[in-house]
Amino acid sequence: MPKGKIRVAFIGIGNSASTTIQGLFYYSSGRENSGLWHPLVGGYGVGDIEVVAALDIDSRKVGKDLSEAIFSEPNVVEKRCEVPRTSVIVEKGLLEDELNPYLASKLEVSKQDKNGVVECLKKSDVDVVVNTISSGLDKSSIAYANAACEAGASFVNATPTSIATDPSIIEAFKKRGVIVVGDDLMSQLGGTALHRGLVYFLKSRGIKPIRSYQLDVGGGLETLNTMYEDLRDFKKQVKTSSIGEEINEGWEVVSGTTDYVDFLGNNRVTYLQFNAIGFMGSSITINVSLRSNDGMNASNIILDVIRAVKKASEDGLIGNVNEISNYGFKKTLEKKRIQEATMAFESKYCRF
Ligand SMILES: NC(=O)c1ccc[n+]([C@@H]2O[C@H](COP(=O)([O-])OP(=O)(O)OC[C@H]3O[C@@H](n4cnc5c(N)ncnc54)[C@H](O)[C@@H]3O)[C@@H](O)[C@H]2O)c1
Repeated sequence: MPKGKIRVAFIGIGNSASTTIQGLFYYSSGRENSGLWHPLVGGYGVGDIEVVAALDIDSRKVGKDLSEAIFSEPNVVEKRCEVPRTSVIVEKGLLEDELNPYLASKLEVSKQDKNGVVECLKKSDVDVVVNTISSGLDKSSIAYANAACEAGASFVNATPTSIATDPSIIEAFKKRGVIVVGDDLMSQLGGTALHRGLVYFLKSRGIKPIRSYQLDVGGGLETLNTMYEDLRDFKKQVKTSSIGEEINEGWEVVSGTTDYVDFLGNNRVTYLQFNAIGFMGSSITINVSLRSNDGMNASNIILDVIRAVKKASEDGLIGNVNEISNYGFKKTLEKKRIQEATMAFESKYCRF
């Protein structure tokens, strides 16, 4: 029997939402699947995802058709796919935090209260809400999770706010019979994934890493936002502890956003250095630089997670689903190595 569409709401129509929505149309319009990591997840293709609602708090996006809002300022994402008019009009989101000076300098705020958000999700009959709002807005992200729960929709948290790692929020989702996954998306091939992957490779070759650091330079609103010191420290902690999941013996690691360079746009350059020990204590140094696009790097993961959440929900799962959170996110309840997490996800959701 053919499955129905997965009805999705995006909250925060920034760069990663833009590339994901472009990707939806790109891969649904009969093009080959090159660049699409998992064509089928939970038996669903990308074309089975339908965006039925969208919210943002920037007046340059609110009131516009989604196809136009995804290219509106302050987004700096490149256009790789023409998106036809969708008839989804971006509605006002909520804002329960004070914006830090970096965000305040870039956003033109237009908002509504939580009841309006719940109404919007209910009337659109949403299955899965994807939260891609700016990081650091903890009260707002939590309010969106509560709104999704109240509306009976599952919730995907791409931000670093503790949501799918918060026992009381997980409990609320369980009671409502829906799913919550997160926190803090792990890009497909960003600094964290590459760092973790290299550790795995070194260890598989009998080399012992003793020290490594990762410095990130980027453009775009989210990198600028991360220049706010408290948030920068917090993100550094999350990234460092995610990399720490690959090791269990003495090793020093430092990882974090280092600077904002406006003309990089939505691109990010990551510098990695490893110091390791080989035969008879000989020293090994590896330097790597990775240039990638933040939005594009998020989209395969977001598309996979949406489809896996829908499948898990059909299978009767509720609350946090470890196989999905471990695969797609940096801050998780369970600690798994990247290889194990990917294999567990694929064996559960990609064997169709
Ligand atoms: N590769 C990635 O893109 C990646 C990786 C890891 C984590 N994340 C997380 O995903 C989130 C989105 O990243 P991005 O690069 O797309 O950010 P972005 O800055 O490009 O977009 C954020 C969007 O959220 C909107 N927004 C801010 N506050 C809002 C609110 N209260 N309600 C509704 N909309 C609001 C902004 O107007 C903007 O459109 C961030 O929290 C980031 O940490 C992204």
